[in-house]
Amino acid sequence: MTTVLVLNGPNLGRLGSREPDVYGNQDLAALRSLLEGEKLGDIDLRQTDDEGELIGWLHEAVDKKLPVILNPAAFTHYSYALRDAVALVTTSGGTVIEVHISNPHAREEFRHNSVISGVATGVIAGFGFNSYVLALHAVGRSAS
Ligand code: DQA
Repeated sequence: MTTVLVLNGPNLGRLGSREPDVYGNQDLAALRSLLEGEKLGDIDLRQTDDEGELIGWLHEAVDKKLPVILNPAAFTHYSYALRDAVALVTTSGGTVIEVHISNPHAREEFRHNSVISGVATGVIAGFGFNSYVLALHAVGRSAS
């Protein structure tokens, strides 16, 4: 079975207690179980608050040819280094689906711009944890 990297950026390790009105009250362990329940591949779910570590994981996706579901969290809005790492995956034929739990376009103005979307394979936002489930189904239908 394909391994799918499910990469989560800063502050997402606090899901469950972080702004539950925006992000719900389930944590990353619950997200992992939800995705495993889809039985669409092995789920390698990771979270980091560190930009360099997240970039390293995208390099790993290139080297191992692994599809990626990425919630870049706040890096979405300003990290050109992360954008370049996502482009490394997608320009080498790999898949990166950008996901968001909330709909950033319906929130503060600084969240309306994603520097990642232009190099991602696709974007799914606003469906809670189901954004990841929808992305997992999309990965199953994409080339890598
Ligand atoms: C988020 C939206 C971002 O604006 C925010 O910084 C996050 C989470 C989401 O999943 O809705 O940390 O990516």
